[in-house]
Amino acid sequence: GPPRTIFSGIQPTGTPHLGNYLGALQNWVRLQEEATATGDSVIFSIVGLHAITMPQNPQQLRVERKDMLASLLAIGLDPERSILFHQDQVQEHAELAWYLNCLTSVGRLNRMTTWKSKLATARGSSDAAESAGGGEEGALALGLFAYPVLQAADILLYRTQQRATHVPVGEDQVQHLELSRDIADLFNRTYKQKLFPPPQHIITPTKRVLSLRDPTSKMSKSAPDASSRILITDSPDVVRSKIKKAVTDGETQMSYDPEKRPGVSNLLGIASALMGRDDPALLAEDLNKEGGGGGALKNAVSDAIIEALRPIQERLQRIQNEPAYLAEVERKGREKARERAGPTMEKVRRLVGL
Ligand code: ADP
Ligand code: NA
Repeated sequence: GPPRTIFSGIQPTGTPHLGNYLGALQNWVRLQEEATATGDSVIFSIVGLHAITMPQNPQQLRVERKDMLASLLAIGLDPERSILFHQDQVQEHAELAWYLNCLTSVGRLNRMTTWKSKLATARGSSDAAESAGGGEEGALALGLFAYPVLQAADILLYRTQQRATHVPVGEDQVQHLELSRDIADLFNRTYKQKLFPPPQHIITPTKRVLSLRDPTSKMSKSAPDASSRILITDSPDVVRSKIKKAVTDGETQMSYDPEKRPGVSNLLGIASALMGRDDPALLAEDLNKEGGGGGALKNAVSDAIIEALRPIQERLQRIQNEPAYLAEVERKGREKARERAGPTMEKVRRLVGL
């Protein structure tokens, strides 16, 4: 068929952790590699306009926004092969979101769960809770409530006539893609033209990485205990000490059983994913043959992480020492994104009558 457009985004809040890397970013690199062969276009966006739906410190956001671009380059995204850009530098995103806001009902958005969980998170942290009105729903920021509409705009902007935009999504994002499809359909029906083919979901072999300290929950950047996550910038010593503290169990035989042994299975999953092995159960068997129990597992996981992060950290250091290169990547990304987004917005304005 005609080439696909693949779109995904990440918020510029904090250094990516292993969950982001194995659950999303590594997959972006894989999609980029595949696209080079198929002629698909791959578009990756750093979504600053989404970040500000929650309270942010402006100085910190400015730094994290630049750091995220550097991180994406370091993990292997290539601005020659992917469109890599800051969403907030392409005005069409906010513009299309407004048009879509004028079609989307409050009732439909009310059924989304993300704003509810983000509001609950804001309740947990005091300064965020203050700005979010202490978690009072009445003080819920309109932007946070409408976040999924902006996400629909992000995706729909990169439409092509021939083929829907494809979006790699995890389970937690399925309802957002559903909404994007509904909004595309609503727009097409309202303005009696099939402008937006409903976006499609790409099933990707994503890994769910669990918290090292509480393997019943996901590894996340917001958990208060920093040793629950490994950042892509963690030094070998830090990696070893966090893995040493990881919750496992006292058994000396290793086995992959995510239900009964979430901690051990999480470590086996991380190590095998980073080693490019398909089956964590086989890794457990290998470890059992060598003996050494949980200590051996932790050594193997630490080694795999350190090994995987080393080239990323080397590239990151190099890139961060080249601000002119980063600025050039930003400029080119913005230009390429606008080449795609601009014509969509022209069509939208015309159809709407503006
Ligand atoms: P967002 O930026 O969308 O609010 P996050 O920053 O939490 O979300 O995550 C960015 C990406 O990393 C998303 O695709 C998300 O699904 C993925 N991700 C986050 N945490 C994990 C995890 N623990 N395991 C696997 N994937 C994760
Ligand atoms: Na997410």
